[in-house]
Amino acid sequence: MNRPDVYVQSDIDFPRLLLASNREPFRVIRDANGEVSRCERSMGGLTSALCPVLERCDGVWVSWNPNALSTDDDDLIREQHGDGIPFPTIQVGLRKSEIKGYYNGFCNRALWPLCHTVLRCVTPRLDYWQDFRTVNDRFADVIASRSKKYDVLWIHDYHLMLVPAAMRRRIDPRHRIGYFHHVPFPNVRVLKAFPWHRQLIKGILGADAIGFHTPEYASNFIECCQELLGCDTRSEPGTIHHGKYGTIVRVRPIGVDAQSFAMIANQRDVQDDAIQIRRKIRCERLVLSVDRLDYTKGILERVEAIRALFARIPQCRGIVTFVQVAVPTRTDVPEYPQYRAKVEAAIDELNGEFGHGDWKPFIYRTEPMKRRELVAHYLAADVACITPLADGMNLVASEYCASRTDGDGVLVLSSQAGAATTLGEHAVCVDMRKQEGVVTGILRALTMSESERALRMGRLRSIVMKNTTDTWLKSCLDDIMHPEPADAEQLAALVKIGHARQGHDGGRVRAGAPKSRHATHSSSMAKRAPAGNAPPH
Ligand code: ADP
Ligand code: G6P
Repeated sequence: MNRPDVYVQSDIDFPRLLLASNREPFRVIRDANGEVSRCERSMGGLTSALCPVLERCDGVWVSWNPNALSTDDDDLIREQHGDGIPFPTIQVGLRKSEIKGYYNGFCNRALWPLCHTVLRCVTPRLDYWQDFRTVNDRFADVIASRSKKYDVLWIHDYHLMLVPAAMRRRIDPRHRIGYFHHVPFPNVRVLKAFPWHRQLIKGILGADAIGFHTPEYASNFIECCQELLGCDTRSEPGTIHHGKYGTIVRVRPIGVDAQSFAMIANQRDVQDDAIQIRRKIRCERLVLSVDRLDYTKGILERVEAIRALFARIPQCRGIVTFVQVAVPTRTDVPEYPQYRAKVEAAIDELNGEFGHGDWKPFIYRTEPMKRRELVAHYLAADVACITPLADGMNLVASEYCASRTDGDGVLVLSSQAGAATTLGEHAVCVDMRKQEGVVTGILRALTMSESERALRMGRLRSIVMKNTTDTWLKSCLDDIMHPEPADAEQLAALVKIGHARQGHDGGRVRAGAPKSRHATHSSSMAKRAPAGNAPPH
């Protein structure tokens, strides 16, 4: 069995982690005889970002077992190591009805659209909520039963928002708990209208440290804690005081395993594949988009903008080809097949209207790719068009830059992607709500001079190569294990957004690094007991 990917080893001494997410890191594919034929990384940003984490740390990944239980007690907890999976995993079994209510229902028809503020898709049903609570409790039970003394418990994403508080009720207070929210956090007006908002916020507040990708998401969360739960969020900026506890909130934009992408891009055969991709498509300029087939990714709006581009600028016809890789996702959630049908109809129309001879303006592919193939596509693309309507971060944007070891390529990036906070200055930023701006942005990228391309890509690459999985991981683990008062950079990020929202009611927010009053749930215990391998003080 080959290792599923290229990983870069780290020499940082990380603690033992018990990492939990809904999505399992790898899917094991078996042949007709039940023999393991291969092991594939699950699709999506969370697993792309976190697999390298468990490659670096000693630990276990707890996740959902996507095969429904056949009987009530059958296979409720399954431990796995081997079969090509590079680290130990524990899978939590769900009943068929729970998959419907918890995953398809509450997670994907309520929380996902709520966090991305697509309110027309929010379906807040009580039966979904009940399954969500049951499954979050089950995750907490499994984690509590498997955690060793001083393990760091790190809970990931909106599926498990209730787990941090549920863990608090089950475990030794010396355990440190972190939570990372990989998607946007809605503003107080949006969250307030959602029936279970208080339980969700309280659930996350069970953690010692909470991470968000951008200052906006972090300050939305802080504002929600203040307005909806009455927490003290002002006496110590970056810390939420609730009851006798304090939870720190930090802005930690996630990075990619940039070295690994660069290493693949430097391989001769991958570069040859990139040349082949261009030859096969036979166009002068290639624009690439890579997304899960999700309505938040703005694929439909992008197709419409491209149609407008070909209509208004006939010189682009026959010259520019768009390649969209869109892997179907969440196919049992009705909004997704409906969206897919709309996207495909729009693509057919576009190709029908403008295609001629053997030139097809829009090439659409729906299959998952191996990382090498993905990198070959990144290398082949003159322009990467990453234009979601809303996106927690968007790793494809960083992967594109990390792969461009040739220093060429232009990134067109939606200002609504979290990645715009780190990469926006050197990308061509577009507002997906304004089609005209999108068309102009794509044209600008296509006509950019070689020197400007090199300058921008050089700057983008230095950001991406600096803010990697390692740096992100180290900051997040420091937040969980060795909480410090917010530093000047964090304060600047949080206070700036706070000012904009509160009509400059920033007088109460002190600059500088204040002394922590009671920084975390377990701070007093932590002074006595080392967490994992590394002592907290
Ligand atoms: P999201 O988290 O919403 O899925 P991101 O852009 O942050 O969006 O992450 C998507 C991840 O999935 C990236 O790491 C990207 O490389 C990977 N990915 C997307 N499409 C494909 C594909 N067709 N084949 C392989 N990996 C893909
Ligand atoms: C986003 C979410 C992840 C999720 C991924 C894929 O990245 O933040 O938590 O795993 O999408 O979605 P899926 O529903 O297939 O896990």
